[in-house]
Amino acid sequence: MSSGIVSRLLSSTAAAFDSRIIGQAATALTGKAAVLKNDAQESHFYPTLIDTFGRRHNYLRISLTEKCNLRCFYCMPENGVELSPKAHILADDEVIRLASLFVRRGVTKIRLTGGEPTVRKNLVELVGRLNELRALGLRSIGITSNGIALHRKLSALVDNGLTHLNLSLDTLDPQKFQLITRRTGHDAVLKSLMTSLDSPGIEAVKLNVVVMRGINEDEVLDFVGLTKELNIAVRFIEFMPFSGNKWSHNKMVPSADLLRRISERWPETEAVYPGEPNGTARMHRIPGYSGSFGFISSMSDHFCGTCNRLRITADGMIKVCLFDPKEVSLRDIMRSGGSDGDLETAIGLSVKDKKAKHAGMENIDVVHNRPMILIGESDVLGLTHMDESGKPRMVDVGGKAITSRLAVATGSIIIPAHALDLVTPHTPDLSTSSFVRRHSRCAQLAGIMAAKATSSLIPLCHPLPLTCISVNLLPVPDELKIVSEARVSCDGKTGVEMEPYCCISVAGKEMIISDIKVVHKSGGKSGDWTRPH
Ligand code: GTP
Ligand code: 5AD
Ligand code: SF4
Repeated sequence: MSSGIVSRLLSSTAAAFDSRIIGQAATALTGKAAVLKNDAQESHFYPTLIDTFGRRHNYLRISLTEKCNLRCFYCMPENGVELSPKAHILADDEVIRLASLFVRRGVTKIRLTGGEPTVRKNLVELVGRLNELRALGLRSIGITSNGIALHRKLSALVDNGLTHLNLSLDTLDPQKFQLITRRTGHDAVLKSLMTSLDSPGIEAVKLNVVVMRGINEDEVLDFVGLTKELNIAVRFIEFMPFSGNKWSHNKMVPSADLLRRISERWPETEAVYPGEPNGTARMHRIPGYSGSFGFISSMSDHFCGTCNRLRITADGMIKVCLFDPKEVSLRDIMRSGGSDGDLETAIGLSVKDKKAKHAGMENIDVVHNRPMILIGESDVLGLTHMDESGKPRMVDVGGKAITSRLAVATGSIIIPAHALDLVTPHTPDLSTSSFVRRHSRCAQLAGIMAAKATSSLIPLCHPLPLTCISVNLLPVPDELKIVSEARVSCDGKTGVEMEPYCCISVAGKEMIISDIKVVHKSGGKSGDWTRPH
C-alpha cells in the first residue's frame, strides 16, 4: 500500500485525522462493532419475530428511498430506473410507526438504507425520532451511505442518535470512481469517511468495497493497507448479478482468491474470532493494525443459519429474505386503517414463512433480476420458478400491487410467395384489399387466441387479466417475409411478456418463424425497458 493514499486521505481532512487513528489499540478486533452482544437473547423478545427455525430477528433494515445521487454501474442501469410514485413511499410517520412496533417486539438494531438514504428529506429529524425508541429497547441506529452528501449532515445525524456507518467506496482513485459511479464526488466520500472517524458518537465505520475483476481488484491490498492507521472495517463484497449490471461470472472475484493474495503480502493475517454476531462478513486483521478487513461472500457462501434480518422497502413491503421475492405490504395495512395488531399479524406470518436458506447466488436468474436500487440493496430474485429443493413452483405474486403493464414482441415469418401474395396489398391502401383484410384478420385472430391461451401453454405462467391484444403484420415482399408485432397489455401483478411471445409464434407448416423477441415492456416495479437497437 502506498503511503500516498493515506496522505491523500490525510490532506483531504487533515484536522480530522491524526488524533484518532494512529496506534489505536490493536486489541479492538473489528472496531467497536465487534463487541455488540447478540441482543436477540434479551428477554423482551416476542414470538412474532422468531421464525420456525428459531432465528430471532432483532435487526431491521429500513429503505428510506429508491433514489440515489450516484449511478454505480453494478447497481443501476445507466438511465436510472423508474421510481415508485412519491405517494407510494412510506411517510415519516409510517416509518416511525413500523419501527416502533418492531422495537417493541424485540428489534434492537435499525439500519437505514436506500437507494441513498441521505437524499431522503427530513433524514435528520427521522433519525431523531428513531432515537426516541431507545427507551423501548433500540440499541443502535446505522446508515449505509455512498457518502456523497453525508458529510454535510453527519454531525446533525450523530447529534440525533446515529451510531453506525457503512460507507460504500470501491476505489481510492478519483478517475476510476467516476467510471464506476458515472458521477464525480470522490472527494466528498473521503470527506464523509474522515468526518465519521472524527465523530465520537459513531461507534463503528465499515467500508463496503464491491470487488470487480479488472476494475478494482488491484486496489485490494491498498484498502487493506488503510486499516493500518484507520480504525475501519473494510469489507470486500463479491459482485452480484442484477438486471442491467452486465454481471458475468468472470467479473466476480471469489473472496478466497483475495484472502490468498492478502495473506501473501501479510502472512501474519489472522481471522477475527468470534466475529460480530449474525454478521455477514468473515473478518480478518493484521496484528498491530487499527482496523480490520473481511469478506461478504454472497456468491460463494451464505450466512442464512444465523440470519437475524428483516427488511422494509421504501414503499412499505416487509421482506424476510434478500433472496425471497415474496413481499407483503405493511403500508397498505396502515393506509386501510389497520391496527398495530393487524400489522403484527402480517409481520408474524411473513416471519413464519421465512425459508431455512436461499438456493444460492450461483443459481440466480440474471435476466429476471431487478436492479438493486429499487429494492433497498436487498431484493435479489432467485431462480423464481424453483423451490429450494429444485422442485418447480409458481411464483407467489399475491402480495404485489396491481399495475398497468404492456409488453411488445416482434418476429419475422418467412412465408411462401403465393401466401405472401395473399396478404400483400396490391393497392396503396391496405384497407381497400379485401383479400388482404381477410387473410391478415385470420392471422391476427390466431395470434390473439394464442396470447389468450398463454397461461395454459407455458408451464408456471400466471393467468393474467389482459386488457388489450393487438397484432400488426407488415409484409416485406422482397424478403418473402412478414414482420409481426404483438402488443399485449394487462392490469396485473406480474409481467405480461410471455403473451406477445405466444401471440407471434403461430404459423402454418410451410412457414418459418424467426427472430422472436420482446422489444419493450413497461409497468411493474422494475420499470420501463426498451431493447437497444
Ligand atoms: P451491518 O451488519 O449492520 O454492519 O450491515 P450489513 O453488512 O448487513 O449491511 P450493508 O448495508 O453495509 O450491506 C453490505 C452488503 O451486505 C451489501 O452488499 C448487501 O447486499 C449485503 N447484505 C446485506 N444483508 C444481507 C443478507 O441478508 N444476505 C446477503 N447474502 N447479503 C446481505
Ligand atoms: N453486487 C454486490 N454489492 C452491491 N452493492 C450494490 N450493488 C451490488 C452488487 N451488484 C452494495 C453497495 C453498497 C451495499 C449496500 O450494496 O456497494 O455498499
Ligand atoms: Fe447509489 Fe449505492 Fe446503487 Fe451506487 S450502489 S448507485 S451509491 S444505491
